[in-house]
Amino acid sequence: MTGLIPKQFIVDLVERADVAEIVGRRVQLKKAGKEFKACCPFHDEKTPSFTVSPTKGFYHCFGCGVHGTALDFLMEYDHMDFVDAVESLAAIMGLEVPRSESNNQSRSYDSLFELLDRVSVYYEKNLKSHETAIDYLKTRGINGATAKRFSLGYAPSGWNNLLNKFGSSKESIDRLLATGLIIRKDNGKYYDRFRDRIMFPIRDARGRTIGFGGRIIGDEKPKYLNSPETVLFHKGRELYGLYESRQALRNIEKLVVVEGYMDVVGLAQHGIDFSAATLGTATTDEHLNRLFRICEEIVFSFDGDRAGRAAAWKALQNTLPHIREGRQIRFIFLPEGQDPDSFIQENGPDAFTTALNNALPLSDFLIDELTSKLNVDTVDGRARLAELARPLLSKIPAGVYKDLLTEQLAVTIGLPPHRLEPLFQNNSAEHGKRSHGNRTKIGSSEKNPSTGKPSIVRKAITLIIHHPASALQIDIERLSGNTRPGIELLNSLIKAVNSEPKITTAGLLERFRNDAEGRHLGKLAATELPGDDNFDSVAELRHCLTQLELSARRTRIETLIDKQRTHKLTSVEKTELRELTKGP
Ligand code: CTP
Ligand code: MN
Repeated sequence: MTGLIPKQFIVDLVERADVAEIVGRRVQLKKAGKEFKACCPFHDEKTPSFTVSPTKGFYHCFGCGVHGTALDFLMEYDHMDFVDAVESLAAIMGLEVPRSESNNQSRSYDSLFELLDRVSVYYEKNLKSHETAIDYLKTRGINGATAKRFSLGYAPSGWNNLLNKFGSSKESIDRLLATGLIIRKDNGKYYDRFRDRIMFPIRDARGRTIGFGGRIIGDEKPKYLNSPETVLFHKGRELYGLYESRQALRNIEKLVVVEGYMDVVGLAQHGIDFSAATLGTATTDEHLNRLFRICEEIVFSFDGDRAGRAAAWKALQNTLPHIREGRQIRFIFLPEGQDPDSFIQENGPDAFTTALNNALPLSDFLIDELTSKLNVDTVDGRARLAELARPLLSKIPAGVYKDLLTEQLAVTIGLPPHRLEPLFQNNSAEHGKRSHGNRTKIGSSEKNPSTGKPSIVRKAITLIIHHPASALQIDIERLSGNTRPGIELLNSLIKAVNSEPKITTAGLLERFRNDAEGRHLGKLAATELPGDDNFDSVAELRHCLTQLELSARRTRIETLIDKQRTHKLTSVEKTELRELTKGP
């Protein structure tokens, strides 16, 4: 099906869905007041800390921090992508998913997909008629069947092959440009990006070609050339070989993450059908989300050189926030100078399987790496170890895994765990509430630097996420002129509630799911507010707004007074200052 799913449909869908029923189909829920409780299905636990709130349309685990709407639950629990989750939830509720046909953007994307597929077929055909290319693959140990599975191809030499074959009209030239297959010169002429290269088509989750990687056959530079970033192809999101792995195996237990195209193809040639490569970038959150949606175990396999080890360390850091009970993350370090491809060609699949079975767990790698730079026999060294470990541990969601790792570190440092925990605890308590690491933060999640308390904006946003209706009582004008971080998001939230007065927590989260500022709102929904009946969210919110107004006024007064010192105030400004200092 093509076309975008209208946002309003998604918001309405989660508004109408009963999250307790969706979760209850998979997890045994127990009623507890207005909410439901269960042992968390996403981590191992004996006492239930997983809570489902039908009124909010939201679930949350106090143990491991998972949270979200009915759609998030389907994505996490059933390993679906977003569109599949929408389709599936709609099907449960007997609704048809509408697609906005008026959206000609997706239709123009269709023609780009079609072009890329035709070009892929063209490269594939070329491979069959170019002996040098076939011979090259043979010398790399790749047979015809494997080449076919990956639709490997050959881009012939020459500068105008694609233009001649696929660029007969202005529109078709535009499409070649938009997919990065041809490049425009300063003089307005065009030339083929890929020449005399073995071509690796990169496919999306649905098997559509979205870009290419090309390896030079000879010794020229660069060795590899990729499609540029296009509307269809985003390096930080895609994994080469993931589609092919899913085609090869019905049930993927683990995935090996490698660095290169040839690693994926070489492993597949020897029956290791479950690998995927990042495309010349570090492993991103988006990569990890995709991988963990497919299986629970990821094994990183990097080149056995210094660069490989550095890449593995980077991968470790990016993976920490994705640690959950039940997930396994391990690392293979191949002998110096080897990559997965050369290793398996030389030593065969059994040797690789052995390396796979002996892969180093993340916790061991972390501790090995930290201690390798220190002498833990000295007091200083152990203190330094604690210091180095702290920012890393703070990225791991609270839970059994984190506790175990803390314990393991305590043993290494030679301290009883209860002495070490406080060192890490203040950070871990933060975890559930705040976004961390390299991701965009909700502006308002910044703490007030003078008091160390969460900012007022953040508090106001949290209140609205928990009790959307309280925003109906708010005069949005009161925020005008305020420039604190997060104010815009607060503004948009108040507007969203006022245009849909019955919207729930889940509805708001869906509305802001793809919003740069608002996409981490779920974290705020997962924080605890005083739950008793005396809690008056409207009064609390009004109080926040009053404080914001006062602080905006203070800032304005300070600005005017500052100006008064160095310049003259205009008469309008004088009046303003007089009004402002009159008091409320
Ligand atoms: N890469 C790239 N551009 C380069 C070099 C590398 O994008 N100039 C990416 C490619 O995705 C490549 C991966 O980094 O597959 C690994 O590079 P490298 O280790 O140099 O290549 P190998 O995969 O070992 O290539 P080969 O075995 O074909 O020599
Ligand atoms: Mn290689």
